Amino acid sequence: MTDLPMIVKDPTLPERITIYEVGVRDGLQNEKTIVPTEVKAEFIARLIAAGLPIVEATSFVHPKWVPQLADAADLVALLDMRGPVQLPVLVPNERGLDRAIEAGISHIAVFGSASETFANKNLNSTLDGQFEMFEPVVKRALAADMTVRAYVSMCFGDPWEGAVPIEQVVATGKRMLEMGAEELSLGDTIGVATAGHVTALVDAFVAGGVGLEQLALHFHDTYGQALSNVHAGLRSGITTFDASAGGLGGCPFAKSATGNLATEDLVWMLNGLGIEHGVDLAALVETSVWMADKLGRPSPSGVVRALSGAE
Ligand code: HMG
Ligand code: MG
Repeated sequence: MTDLPMIVKDPTLPERITIYEVGVRDGLQNEKTIVPTEVKAEFIARLIAAGLPIVEATSFVHPKWVPQLADAADLVALLDMRGPVQLPVLVPNERGLDRAIEAGISHIAVFGSASETFANKNLNSTLDGQFEMFEPVVKRALAADMTVRAYVSMCFGDPWEGAVPIEQVVATGKRMLEMGAEELSLGDTIGVATAGHVTALVDAFVAGGVGLEQLALHFHDTYGQALSNVHAGLRSGITTFDASAGGLGGCPFAKSATGNLATEDLVWMLNGLGIEHGVDLAALVETSVWMADKLGRPSPSGVVRALSGAE
């Protein structure tokens, strides 16, 4: 199987892309059981060893809101936060930033919503109010030489409001960038995006003056569309994609959000397209099998199942 998939390049697609690994954060925040801190640290070490260049480590959010990540400071204390692999953390407000600074963090991500309802459910805020929460965070983080990524959730639809207008998503995303975030990750929190919608949204950002290099795409695979959506993103020239080892993930504040795009599924497709990414697929599959064993259930990723001989 080592010569599969066959490599058939498409010269119209980017030659190399960056995978932003979210399994430890987006994956484990949604687990019913709380994974021990040492297991999280080993998960991160294994992902780094598999070649992932960025591994989102945890969130400095309110521990009552996300008890699964209440051990953020203890976890960070076990990690080399100044090593070559970036280990960003989610920070929603100044209290979270204070905790991140105390923990010696270099890379943070703020996370906003393109819809009013999710701003309320996820941040106890409003669509407008969220910017007031983020502005001092971004300002202080940049002054402290941190890098800042910004997420926008519900970019392709919201479980309470239905369709989210493209203009509303672009306006929200641009406000996040204008605050000083260097990268904007467009989240399909509940996995409802389809390929044409992806193309239209990226085009709308570009028409609004946002550079392709400033954009990342973050797909959940609820409706089995994640890889097709990545392909649409590649065709538009996007070069950063979020993915989650083993397809772990979801969002506790949006019940219809299920697993993220599995990193292994993404890597398999990129391998076939001859697009460079730097990740060792066998090591990654081994890691996801190890993690699935810790969680007590098999990985939903087709590639993990196929390559681990689980079926
Ligand atoms: P709030 O209850 O409105 O907070 O929550 P508050 O500002 O009113 O403060 C209340 C108390 O919480 C105070 O303590 C604060 O100090 C404390 P008291 O004075 O009562 O003792 N507090 C904190 N403690 C620790 N860390 C903090 C913190 N902030 C306040 N950071 C808040 C507002 C934003 C904190 C809350 O809504 C929250 O934590 N939300 C996090 C939700 C979350 O993590 N969601 C999942 C991540 S987003 C996602 O998964 C989507 C994504 O993957 C992209 C996609 O798929 O679309 C990124
Ligand atoms: Mg997510």
